[in-house]
Formats: sequence, structure tokens, C-alpha cells
Amino acid sequence: MYITAIILAAGKGLRLKSKISKPLIKIDFKPLIVYSLEILNNHPLIKDIIVVINNSNAAGIKQIKQKYKIEKIKAFVLGGQQRKGSVYNGLIAVHSKSDFVLVHDSARPFINSKCISKVIAHAKITGAAILGVPVKATIKEVHSPLPIVHGGFIVKKTLDRSNLWEIQTPQVFRKDLILKAYKKFGNQEATDDAFLVEKSGAKVRVVMGSYDNIKITTQEDLVLAGVIVKNSKIKSQNCNSKFKS
Ligand code: CTP
Ligand code: MG
Repeated sequence: MYITAIILAAGKGLRLKSKISKPLIKIDFKPLIVYSLEILNNHPLIKDIIVVINNSNAAGIKQIKQKYKIEKIKAFVLGGQQRKGSVYNGLIAVHSKSDFVLVHDSARPFINSKCISKVIAHAKITGAAILGVPVKATIKEVHSPLPIVHGGFIVKKTLDRSNLWEIQTPQVFRKDLILKAYKKFGNQEATDDAFLVEKSGAKVRVVMGSYDNIKITTQEDLVLAGVIVKNSKIKSQNCNSKFKS
């Protein structure tokens, strides 16, 4: 079984409002992207890694391979304007012998090995599996009344939380499935890869992830990331729950 990991690091990080490219920002003295690269590099099921970068962070990210001994990095490829373009550029660089592809956002530094093993195991059964966690908050669908009045959103409906999961990466797919999905539906708006695979009719399995697996998007996420690193000795109790199909 040949599994290639694609790590996405070609975003602009606009919401973070930082001069340093997001994947290179240090959390506890280590660049953010290195956290997930180390976990993937040490995972026995991952054969090689493709890192998708952009022109402004290419030099900095390329140094990481040697500095942190991430031997499994096979290639650095340039990303696209949107995330899906970056994934596609990664996909076409995947080795012809790869059977499965694991796609991961470098913006999520705190993946753990157990969750990776679990999502891979489920993808082997269905062809597509993604990590997620049940939503804790109450979620309401809203709309803006017309004419738009100051601060005005009106509740349209309250969603049934028991069926809502917040989806994370890594997401793992049989290579032929994700390639087919990207070729057929790649022009559609998508904030994750599973959406395109879902559109092509495949069953995507949702596997219990970890609430620690946060995405660094805005400055306050960096504060939280620092706390997670400091408390990393406290073992996460997640990844033991049953998957939801
Ligand atoms: N990404 C990418 N190529 C893009 C856009 C995003 O590789 N054209 C990657 C980012 O590097 C990140 C992941 O996709 O690891 C998730 O994206 P997001 O959290 O939105 O990061 P950015 O796009 O960098 O941030 P922003 O949307 O605030 O500009
Ligand atoms: Mg983005």
C-alpha cells in the first residue's frame, strides 16, 4: 500500500495579518508546518510527502527538509490561487505507484499519529475518509433582511446539532477517486477535498478526530496553539470513539 501525503502551504494567510508566511510562524520556537511534517514523516504508513508552497515562502519552507530531517519529502510544488488549485498541483506530482493520497493543511499543526492511522484504515474500506469532530456550539442559519439594517441578521432556522460535524484534515482518498473528482468538479467552489469526492457520488466516511486539531486562521488561534503545545503532555482522549459513516 503506497500512500502519499500532500501538505498544503501555498495560502496567503490573509486573515492572520502576519508579515511572516503562516507555515513559517514559530509556535514554541518551531515553524508551524514542521509539527505536521514531523508526525507524517514518522508515520509508518506514509511513504512520501509533497509540499505545496508559494513564491513568497518557497525559500523558507525548502530549508525545513534538511534542518528538521524530514526525509520523506519528495517534492516541493507551487500552488494555485485557490486551495483547490494547490491540491491539484500536488495531485499531479504524486508518484504513479501511489494508491492513496492524504491531503493535509499545514495550518493544522496538531495532528496525531493515532488519528492518521484511523482515517487511513477507514479510507482503505470506503475509498474516502475524513476527520471531524461533533459540533459543540448551537448553530443557526441566518439571513440579512432587505433593506439591510445596521447589524441585522435574522435567524432563518436552528440546525439540529446532533447531525453536525466540523470537518478537519487530514482527508484520505483512493488516488483514482480524488483525481476523477478534481477533473470533473474542480471548477466548483469547495473548502475541502471531500466535497468534490462527495459530488462524484462516492461515500465519504467521517472519522472521529481530535478537538486539539485546530486550524490556525486568526491571531487568537496562535495564542491557543501556544497553550496546546505547552499542554501536549496531557494525552488527548479522542480518536477512540466509533466512526460515523
Ligand atoms: N492553501 C493553499 N493554497 C491556496 C490557499 C490555501 O495551499 N491557494 C492552504 C493553506 O496554506 C492552508 C490551507 O490551505 O494550509 C487552509 O487554508 P487557510 O486556512 O484558509 O489558509 P490561507 O488561505 O493561507 O489563509 P487565508 O484564507 O486567511 O488567506
Ligand atoms: Mg484560505
